[in-house]
Amino acid sequence: MFRILVRFIIQYILMLLILVRFIRVLTSNIKGMVMRKLGELIYTKEGITSEAVAKAEYHLPKIIAPDNVKAGESFKVRITVGPHPNTPEHYIRRIELYFSEEGRSFNPILIAYVDLVPLYSEPDVEFTVKLGKSGTLHAVEYCTLHGLWETTKDVIVK
Ligand SMILES: [Fe+2]
Repeated sequence: MFRILVRFIIQYILMLLILVRFIRVLTSNIKGMVMRKLGELIYTKEGITSEAVAKAEYHLPKIIAPDNVKAGESFKVRITVGPHPNTPEHYIRRIELYFSEEGRSFNPILIAYVDLVPLYSEPDVEFTVKLGKSGTLHAVEYCTLHGLWETTKDVIVK
């Protein structure tokens, strides 16, 4: 009788330990998922991680736009990416242009975006933009294999 009781207690303790271990693994995974915010997942020239260095040249958007513009006058912002593969499995899916305006309470402003189709379109787009105040253009592109990449450019409005 005593042996059965000891055996039962040992089995109970083992099951309890396994349950505690399972809960710890589960909660650490959930914490890991919750802790990474979207901003931390965007690759930039300044905050590039070691695994992304080799990919930077082919993914960081290039912004071609004037340094100075006149308030209310339209100007062109060209955004290019690459050279980059353009196959159904691996291509630049989207290019977005945001603007963070000096003095504005909530930034950024989504100015424009383009969804691209593999094979038929290239990641080379141009938007016509008008600004009232100085600020920073943010070009963000999404690669179907390598995620989000961002480049910025300051524009002074006179
Ligand atoms: Fe890619």
